[in-house]
Amino acid sequence: MPPEAAISVRRPSYGRQELKGVRMKICVIGLGYVGLPTAAMFAANGHYVVGVDVCDRILKALGRGETFICEPGLGEAVRWAVSEGRLIAREDPEPADAYIICVPTPINPDHSADLSYIERAVRSILPCVRKGNMVILESTSPPGTTRDLVCGILGGSGLTPGTDLYVAYCPERVLPGRILTELVHNSRVIGGINSESAIKARTLYSCFVRGEMYITDSVTAEMCKLVENTYRDVNIALAAELAMICEKLGINAWEVIRYANKHPRVNLHQPGPGVGGHCIAVDPWFIVQKQPETARMIGLARRINDSMPRYVLERIKALLKNISGGRKVCVLGVTYKPDVDDTRESPVIRLISMLKAEGGYSVVAVDRHADYEGSRGRDLYEAVKGCHLLLLAVNHREFERVDFARIRERMAYPCVLDTRNFWRAEEVEAAGLSYHLLGWGKQSDEEGPDGGVPVPAARGFGGAEDR
Ligand SMILES: NC(=O)c1ccc[n+]([C@@H]2O[C@H](COP(=O)([O-])OP(=O)(O)OC[C@H]3O[C@@H](n4cnc5c(N)ncnc54)[C@H](O)[C@@H]3O)[C@@H](O)[C@H]2O)c1
Repeated sequence: MPPEAAISVRRPSYGRQELKGVRMKICVIGLGYVGLPTAAMFAANGHYVVGVDVCDRILKALGRGETFICEPGLGEAVRWAVSEGRLIAREDPEPADAYIICVPTPINPDHSADLSYIERAVRSILPCVRKGNMVILESTSPPGTTRDLVCGILGGSGLTPGTDLYVAYCPERVLPGRILTELVHNSRVIGGINSESAIKARTLYSCFVRGEMYITDSVTAEMCKLVENTYRDVNIALAAELAMICEKLGINAWEVIRYANKHPRVNLHQPGPGVGGHCIAVDPWFIVQKQPETARMIGLARRINDSMPRYVLERIKALLKNISGGRKVCVLGVTYKPDVDDTRESPVIRLISMLKAEGGYSVVAVDRHADYEGSRGRDLYEAVKGCHLLLLAVNHREFERVDFARIRERMAYPCVLDTRNFWRAEEVEAAGLSYHLLGWGKQSDEEGPDGGVPVPAARGFGGAEDR
């Protein structure tokens, strides 16, 4: 029996009867965070899967039934599928009934989408495709990629997409840490180049998807995927702008956001030192690339979020302006979000580079999840020795409870800047440290810890439990 985490109870409308005996051969191209779990799910739910990747290390591991991706249930699902002969690793695609493309779509330095991985992946299946096959793109892509790029290349096989080949775009919405669960339970948007393609793709996914599946055209589906992340990026940019405004007004943006969100139809996100990861910090650019004149707010939000590391840098400089000689900053967290090991597009890493480029600053980073210049093996209390500022950059769970008195003893200058509203000002200040919060304007922030009695900035009357 396949492991429980990977088995899905099939949707009643596409019940077992419909799929019984329809065991297909599926070629999944690109075995990363999206491709490998998808391959494992198809294998666990009745199909025979060929996993293709250009990375030898991934193929060798898969051949042994192992994976480098740390994801609940995935190791077990892969081990089972490989041991049962349901999932095999291959360097090149093989003739199959369906091809699912899950390769990366990074951005170029000019913020345009790098579609070269998709191009290569589609070309690699040209010798294999046969009449009646299905080709599905899962990679996040600019609107029109499936219809124009994928179908354009597939035409080189001598088969006509839409008539001889079913072609669809089926994006993922999975959250790292919950990928297998979300593959099953999330709703999906399925966009075909024609309705037959969309219906065929929906039937394929129905072997494990329990969420709703909405059928549309491929360009709409591509845009949906981009808009989901763009919505969050714009919302975070609004929170970041609010943080900067509230600092100037001498009030606490976190409190403003918390109370504004009590409105039943308001859902403001949280500010921070920037936006990272390979989705939210990237996908909005794909819309801007297509419509640079019209996508004004989307482009502005991207630029606001991209400016946050510089903004935090300026706050650090203001807080340490009274220090003569070298300044040492201890940075807690380097990943793009809490409790993960992913540093892709991390704004904290950008901030560290800016600090170093500034001259006169040295940085020591602590992060047991990710290794950035020795951050993984570093002890927090060793790292803060001789530091002038402690920067809480990522709210990893392990930073929630720290011994501020021990930190104070070791620091050369008692200054803390919290960019995540993670610590309680009273607790930090009780240890003799000066607490500063991104988005909270205190006059004393201009002065640094020795600048006199902190001016009690407006922070409402909420008790500690209200934070
Ligand atoms: N990771 C997520 O949570 C997530 C969520 C939604 C959408 N996406 C999108 O899905 C796509 C894949 O993302 P990912 O996180 O799985 O990327 P990834 O980098 O983890 O994996 C991609 C894999 O594709 C392989 N590859 C590259 N070119 C290839 C080729 N020509 N043939 C075969 N294999 C090839 C790489 O070696 C790599 O193993 C991206 O477009 C991404 O934006 C990712």
